[in-house]
Amino acid sequence: MELKNSTILITGGTSGIGLEFVKQLTKQDAKIIVTGRNLDKLNEVKRQFPEIQIFQSDVSKREDIERLYKDVTHQFPELNIIINNAGIMRTISLQDISLSLENIVQEIQTNLLGVIQMNHQFITHLKTKKVSAIINVSSGLAFVPFPVSPIYSAAKAGLHSYTQVLRLQLKNTSIKVFELAPPATDTPLNDKFEDEVDKSQLMAVDKMVGIAIKGFLKDKFEIRPGLANVLKLGSRIAPNFFLNFLNKTIEKEKIKRNKLNL
Ligand SMILES: NC(=O)c1ccc[n+]([C@@H]2O[C@H](COP(=O)([O-])OP(=O)(O)OC[C@H]3O[C@@H](n4cnc5c(N)ncnc54)[C@H](OP(=O)(O)O)[C@@H]3O)[C@@H](O)[C@H]2O)c1
Repeated sequence: MELKNSTILITGGTSGIGLEFVKQLTKQDAKIIVTGRNLDKLNEVKRQFPEIQIFQSDVSKREDIERLYKDVTHQFPELNIIINNAGIMRTISLQDISLSLENIVQEIQTNLLGVIQMNHQFITHLKTKKVSAIINVSSGLAFVPFPVSPIYSAAKAGLHSYTQVLRLQLKNTSIKVFELAPPATDTPLNDKFEDEVDKSQLMAVDKMVGIAIKGFLKDKFEIRPGLANVLKLGSRIAPNFFLNFLNKTIEKEKIKRNKLNL
């Protein structure tokens, strides 16, 4: 897929993977539109990359998506690529009955329903373009769940499944459907997972995004950098082995940190 001279909307482009997409895609001569919830973070990205456009918009709110659609398609009718990247990840204990239903399903609302609503809103517009694409950012955890993040894992598994069918149902349109399933990547999202994740095992964000962009350019529709590919293959060959392996790794990391009193 050609990226040069495209107009690309990146949800959650103020941090981590989204921000790295901003950096690398501006070098591909693409026009970039960035969304996020936090206006200060948006203004900071605009300061770093004055050529981009910013819109405050929360993918978990339908009214925000409707307003974003109206504003963006009015101001940038040439928009032809959407990267559904915005996401949150938390540790959740399923035994914690103090959590409200609204709280416990936040990752479904943002990481799964947010993507479905964005695409539902923009598909008709993208179909009018000669070359267009939807890129959904799932996770290696779509293939093997992360034991401390059950709702996140369920949202990403759902997103993988939805993306497969989206690609099938749009095959007679101009819209190419990509899935990027990153492995554990060095971004602020992992700062909360110090107890569970060994930082030295994280893929550098510039490397991960570089692999993704090469994949888009070669029309590789499911991109699974590094360990994400191992998780997908593992989930086919020995699903329980990989789930138990992740669980043991987390427990070992906790014990190590407790011993070190971190
Ligand atoms: N890092 C990893 O290890 C990893 C691995 C696999 C998959 N992923 C996926 O990659 C994507 C990006 O993650 P990251 O690691 O770059 O995380 P990050 O550094 O925490 O960045 C997340 C971005 O999403 C935005 N965001 C969060 N909730 C939003 C909402 N409701 N509406 C609009 N924007 C929202 C954030 O900005 P605001 O807070 O200002 O809204 C921020 O710009 C996510 O979908 C994540 O699940 C990450």
